[in-house]
Amino acid sequence: MSQPKSENITRVQLQVTRADRESALGQRGVTVWFTGLSASGKSTVATLVDQILTARGRHCYVLDGDNIRFGLNRDLGFSPEDRNENIRRIGEVAKLFTQSGIINLTAFISPYRIDRDRNRDIQEPRDFVEVFVDCPLEVCEQRDPKGLYAKARAGLIPEFTGISAPYEPPLKPELALRTDLDTEEESAQRVVDYLAAGGYLARE
Ligand code: ADX
Repeated sequence: MSQPKSENITRVQLQVTRADRESALGQRGVTVWFTGLSASGKSTVATLVDQILTARGRHCYVLDGDNIRFGLNRDLGFSPEDRNENIRRIGEVAKLFTQSGIINLTAFISPYRIDRDRNRDIQEPRDFVEVFVDCPLEVCEQRDPKGLYAKARAGLIPEFTGISAPYEPPLKPELALRTDLDTEEESAQRVVDYLAAGGYLARE
């Protein structure tokens, strides 16, 4: 991991521990990292999980690629280096959410395995749940809700994931969804079931 640019900085120890926060919230903080092609269903499923869990009194938040690129990451594009930095920053933000006891659901293409693995490595074991939103490119292209695949095929969007930029599927995700075979609701329920079985939702 690269060293900070700043010198003369020291870590401040917070007085409220993660355990204190989790016990106040009655849940375990976790990053649920959705990855997959554009239009595979990442945001839709993450949003449904957010709704289901919030209705059950859990504290969640969705970090979504498109949204974050309007704010925090407005200075980044889609070159490999910019995607690296996009995913690095979100990995750090997700870690903060986890440490604060929140169930955070991130929906980014995150096409590079090395970036996702690094985000797993900066968190504690069990704090990073990788969810592969598996959907064949043909289906994503057929859905094309924003018309981006058509534009990319026409050569109007350079470095478009799946067309002219790579996507590296996870090798060992905690969960693999098939959004071309299952409904969005079924996929969301699988995530909720995984979190429930893993003890993330239990009140103490
Ligand atoms: S990532 O590759 O860096 O993880 P991110 O999830 O933040 O991507 O943003 C992806 C979204 O940006 C897509 O859902 C799509 O709406 C839009 N987009 C615009 N240009 C591209 C591109 N060249 N490749 C992929 N997505 C793009």
